[in-house]
Amino acid sequence: MNGSRIRSGEQGMWRYGSSLPLERPEEKVSFGEGWTPLVREEWNGLNLFLKLDFVCPTGSYKDRGMAYLVSRLRELGVREVIEDSSGNAGASMAAYCARAGIACRVFVPDYTSEGKCVQVSSYGALLERIPGTREDTARAAEKAAETVFYAGHNWSPWFAHGIKTFAFELWEQLGFTAPEAVLLPAGQGSLVLGCALAFDELHASGEIDTPPRIFALQPRNCAPLEDAFRKGRSSPERVEKRETIAEGISSAEPVRGREVLKAVKKTGGDILSFSDREIWDGCVELARRGYFVEPTSAIVAAAAERLSREGGVGRKGPVAAVLTGSGLKGSSKILSLFSSPPED
Ligand SMILES: Cc1ncc(COP(=O)(O)O)c(C=O)c1O
Repeated sequence: MNGSRIRSGEQGMWRYGSSLPLERPEEKVSFGEGWTPLVREEWNGLNLFLKLDFVCPTGSYKDRGMAYLVSRLRELGVREVIEDSSGNAGASMAAYCARAGIACRVFVPDYTSEGKCVQVSSYGALLERIPGTREDTARAAEKAAETVFYAGHNWSPWFAHGIKTFAFELWEQLGFTAPEAVLLPAGQGSLVLGCALAFDELHASGEIDTPPRIFALQPRNCAPLEDAFRKGRSSPERVEKRETIAEGISSAEPVRGREVLKAVKKTGGDILSFSDREIWDGCVELARRGYFVEPTSAIVAAAAERLSREGGVGRKGPVAAVLTGSGLKGSSKILSLFSSPPED
């Protein structure tokens, strides 16, 4: 990507369409996702920029990846798909499949927020709620996919390439410069992989001198990437996960963990973990500032809090963070957290 390849006449993330090749562009499946606001916040002296991806058409950043993934599936002539998800990706897949005329079956863990489940069914997809862990859900989907096309977004290169557009936008909205650091929630790590792809492309084309440091953020109750990073391992090991309010990033076995660890290390970044109490405090602080996001997304506020206290980040340039998912999908869970907040 470089400035001259931006298609300024295109809507949303498709202004970077030159970096999202389609063999038959007329098959593109889009709701005009992307080009989300970037808002400056002063956070205990930290020059923080919040990227409001929760305003995407289905209420999460997943729409970027899904727009490109489902476009490629329609090009291939796929008529029916299976997806597994912690909720947001399933809702997004269901919406894009509805637009594409592709039949869709979505597997989610049974702890998934009601709002996301209602969304999946409303879009006309078949919802399968699976008892147990996120990994049990993935296994159930893979089994069902013995006879139907498995479109699991965590495995798809197209999904990561769609996600990278948030980072192109950051670069453009910051006046064609890279931030010093980017704070990203990480379960399977799609934001980390997308961010690395985008800034590598910008670096390779000479648009930026130094890619930003990537900070991948995990709930302490389920932090296989953080655990591997601390121990200097090249791939994560399965962890025993405990319940967490950050449901979107509670992945005990990230399928592309090795690549995620490599990407963070290459940028001189870090992987940090946070207690549910820290994540909840971040959620409340964001809401007080006017951002109603789901607890998963609020982990970036917990990170801003810690990094602003410790110093060491944000001295050379701004720090950017992505607000990934809308609080409206989990409002009943959020209400119950106000009356009984997590303990430390
Ligand atoms: C709101 C939200 N933020 C962040 C993520 C992180 O995505 P990943 O699992 O690709 O790291 C998810 C994943 O479902 C999510 O729902």
